[in-house]
Amino acid sequence: MTSVPATAAGTLARDTAAGTKRVLTGYRPTGPLHLGHWAGNIETMLRLQRDPGYECFFFIADWHMLTTHYDRTDELPGFVEELVLDWLAAGLDPERAVIYRQSDLPEVAEMALLLGMITPLGWLERVPSFKERLRDMSERDVANLGLLGYPVLQTVDISIVGGELVPVGEDQVAHLELSREIVRRFNRLYGDVLVEPQPLLSQTPLIPGSDGRKMSKSLDNAIGVRDEEDLIRAKVRSFVTDPQKLRLGDPGRPEICPVFALHRKFSPDDVDRIERTCRTGELGCVECKGILADHVVAAFAGFRQRRSELAATTGLAAEILAAGAEHVRPVASATLANVRAAMHLG
Ligand code: TRP
Repeated sequence: MTSVPATAAGTLARDTAAGTKRVLTGYRPTGPLHLGHWAGNIETMLRLQRDPGYECFFFIADWHMLTTHYDRTDELPGFVEELVLDWLAAGLDPERAVIYRQSDLPEVAEMALLLGMITPLGWLERVPSFKERLRDMSERDVANLGLLGYPVLQTVDISIVGGELVPVGEDQVAHLELSREIVRRFNRLYGDVLVEPQPLLSQTPLIPGSDGRKMSKSLDNAIGVRDEEDLIRAKVRSFVTDPQKLRLGDPGRPEICPVFALHRKFSPDDVDRIERTCRTGELGCVECKGILADHVVAAFAGFRQRRSELAATTGLAAEILAAGAEHVRPVASATLANVRAAMHLG
């Protein structure tokens, strides 16, 4: 059940099967998946794992979660398990992708220490999300070395498996650019050892949440893929819409409406009619939201069913992660051995 493509295990970072590309993406285990993950990223992961041209590494970035939630480690085991089960229910397949947990690879920590030696402070301090996190989380103490070093750790995640492509949204491109700079600096200092990763930009525009900002758990504006029908309906009703469309008959502007952005994704067969009747004013926001809720509920019914079946198998997530760790470890330790050798370390 957990075998992976032969080339994913036991090979050096550069030894990928001719013509295949290594793809890597990681999620922080901060809570249940929401529609933003789904539309922006999970669909891409499903497509990549089906394509024989790619070797996929999907991992749980539990150390990254500690950069902001180091005081909530009691939540971690539950979040990790839930994320694995959510991924499986979504269709991620341990037969086609290596699914593993960052903290099962101590090699990652050693390599992060080494890359930290050559990463200028200025590069890290400039990362926009570092400043944003300090600002958005000002009520908590997150100004720690771990948060500053987030991009170094992320660079190691990618390069320790020889990741060539990283699916990202627009907002993550700066992180990846920094990873490329760190890799280039390493290769300049010690020889051509690490692969420079490229972004694989998501084609899906950012999915807005109920307040119109990017859907995100921490902004409390998200619809969870596991939410029950009533909750989905209530959350959709709470979405902001075009502020100039106050009552039925008022013409609306779909291009600025977060509800319409979700229709584009979840109501493909209805979207033209919705756009037209919103503009004419025929379609009111209450009805429009009802249509969206119907589609979202239907879209995830199968997922919810599979998810609850998976939850009934005790130990499943742990089993998947153990098998994933076994497959990725030889890859990681081969890269680390090359790094050590290049740096003349023992
Ligand atoms: N930064 C990603 C997030 O916010 C998680 C992550 C950690 C990641 N390391 C990565 C993503 C490497 C892609 C590649 O969820």
